[in-house]
Amino acid sequence: MNLEKMLQSQGFGSRKNCQQLIKNGAVQIQGEVVTEPKFKLNLNELEYSVYGKSYQYREKVYIALNKPAGYECSHQATHHFSVFELFDDVLLDRGLQCVGRLDQDTTGLLLLTDDGQFLQALTHPKKHVPKVYRMHTADPVNDEQLKQLEQGVELHNESGTFAATNVERLAEHELQMAIHQGVYHQVKRMLAAVGNKVESLHRQQIGQLKLQDLAEGEWMYLTETQICAAKNQINSEVAGEVIAI
Ligand code: URA
Repeated sequence: MNLEKMLQSQGFGSRKNCQQLIKNGAVQIQGEVVTEPKFKLNLNELEYSVYGKSYQYREKVYIALNKPAGYECSHQATHHFSVFELFDDVLLDRGLQCVGRLDQDTTGLLLLTDDGQFLQALTHPKKHVPKVYRMHTADPVNDEQLKQLEQGVELHNESGTFAATNVERLAEHELQMAIHQGVYHQVKRMLAAVGNKVESLHRQQIGQLKLQDLAEGEWMYLTETQICAAKNQINSEVAGEVIAI
């Protein structure tokens, strides 16, 4: 691939824009300024810089964000911040999308990508990737509620029943459970269906990927191992060995 095409693929704007950057001497490859737009590149582990900022070539991007409260998962957020404000323009220009959505007041693990196939596969209604949530509840969690959540509850305007797995009471007002679908406000509606109320909600895990070290508001590129684990999860309903992120 040549330099101008590579820059365009990485979110540096139109072909013309990229040509201009190169001609302005803004682009360095392995520490050397390159001013020839058609300069041929080896993309393998390619590192480059634009106006002194370093980048690594990535065919597609796969990102994990520990979403803070008060951020919406939409590009045109109306009443809150948008999670996309947490990323720079170069990433946004690549067409970064959220893999599923979290409510504005939900915190925790959110995946983002510009890989359309990955996005579709992970969010397809028939792919039941388990997602683990922790929540604080308004009322004490009782045994009957735990049982009902495991057996499955009906949700208004949704067909079928919605059951949680690995339902665990962590404290009087704290609950952890895994869900296997992703309908609108699912966890909050499931808790309402058993007569309780979610006061705060946090997504801890998606498939094998478990939030551990990433601080709230921070994001990271998934490693090859983590990307493979997320892709494998698409074909499995059971989360394999946990991978901390
Ligand atoms: N279920 C909800 O109710 N809200 C979320 O943000 C995610 C799952």
